[in-house]
Amino acid sequence: MADSRAVGIFGAGWVGLVTGGCFAELGHEVVVRDIVPERIEALRAGHLPFHEPDLPEVLERNRGRIRYTLDADELGEADVLFICVQTPPTYSGDADLSYVWNALDELPRANRRQVLVMKSTVPVGTGDTVRAALEARGLNNVGYVSNPEFLAEGTGVRDFMNPDRLVLGAFAPEDAAVVEALYSGIEAPVVRTDVASAEMIKLAANAFLSTRISFINEIANVCELVGADVEDVAKGVGLDHRLGPHFFRAGVGWGGSCFGKDVSALKQLAGNSGYHFQLLAAVIEVNELQKRRVIAKLEKHLGKLRGKTIAVLGLAFKPNTDDLRDAPSLVIASRLLAEGASVRTWDPVADARDRLRGALQCGSVLDAVAGADAAVIVTEWPELRGLASKEVREAMARPLIVDGRNVLDPEETRAAGFAYEGIGRGSSPFASLPETPEREPKVPR
Ligand code: UGA
Repeated sequence: MADSRAVGIFGAGWVGLVTGGCFAELGHEVVVRDIVPERIEALRAGHLPFHEPDLPEVLERNRGRIRYTLDADELGEADVLFICVQTPPTYSGDADLSYVWNALDELPRANRRQVLVMKSTVPVGTGDTVRAALEARGLNNVGYVSNPEFLAEGTGVRDFMNPDRLVLGAFAPEDAAVVEALYSGIEAPVVRTDVASAEMIKLAANAFLSTRISFINEIANVCELVGADVEDVAKGVGLDHRLGPHFFRAGVGWGGSCFGKDVSALKQLAGNSGYHFQLLAAVIEVNELQKRRVIAKLEKHLGKLRGKTIAVLGLAFKPNTDDLRDAPSLVIASRLLAEGASVRTWDPVADARDRLRGALQCGSVLDAVAGADAAVIVTEWPELRGLASKEVREAMARPLIVDGRNVLDPEETRAAGFAYEGIGRGSSPFASLPETPEREPKVPR
């Protein structure tokens, strides 16, 4: 258990709450500050404004050690202040740092040494600018550390408590030491470096993870043409210890609030500095095309999609979250609507009714597939593992499954009477769509 310190957090978003909750779990006194009154009220009443496994329990368990406030002055007592505000992309693809500057403007004046820590993902060079801003305001008592987060949605608490590494980039080693001490109790290698390198580690990590996915997606696309199976290929390649098995699952492309934003921010940062980052341009383009390939797979079996009914199963950008930011489902469903298809959607937690106005969001998988000419698995929710069932086959007008996450077994799915299209796994030949048998007329009893 770490020596208890006072921790202040700017931003009660996903990163701020996971960070605040987990520091409280480690024994620190935490104050989380946000500018949205409804959010603070909800948190005080014990309601989490989004879906994240384990986090409600962590916040509840540590109620006595976490305070929520609208008043930035309450952060004046903190030893360490974390900036956990959003840095969305601007129209130019740069990161919008206005929330970071707002937080800095509201930094309370304290009579003691404080360390300001950047958790938000920011362009390389932000630390220098922040330091200059602090100096300009005469805040010589405030040190600065870049401590990027590597938390993934759906596993935020686990990732915080069991990180692969802690990255601490500081101007002064004693500031890095203060932040490192907050994490005591957590076993992980510590990378101590300068601020610019810490900022770059975060951007490079997300860019490389996205690159791996776009790479295996392109391998999958070639597998389809040459009759190989990407699942076996990824396994065989990933067993090379120099390459590893992680982030190597082919599918309908990556989404979420981080990859798209960070890859384009890094590409933009390179461009602004006079370097054309060609590889990242391709990584982004491959991902855009990957989502759209679903349409061609459907057309192969169904011809023109106008008037066809398609079930889009899974809306969240990945399982265990209700987050729809940059979700492949939105692109796929929008393309289907643009082709004139009727779209029925299902997700156990995400609600896309506002974003997909032309689609019908259904309450169950069975409802979504009722009368559908095809079902597309977009998010690998566990509920979809049993999709190739008799009930589903009977409910669908035509039994075609496009498995955008390769969660079903192709042989079993075909044996259950479906035409199956995965990603990079060879496909059912054209015109092999099994016809749904005439249903028995229902005899009233
Ligand atoms: C990502 C990183 O994984 C975190 O380390 C990082 O801290 C976070 O961004 C961030 O910058 O805040 P996240 O966006 O929550 O986390 O989600 P991931 O689990 O990375 O998944 C991203 C997307 O890639 C999802 O759409 C997922 O379906 C897709 N994916 C993932 C694949 O298509 N194939 C894979 O093998 C893995």
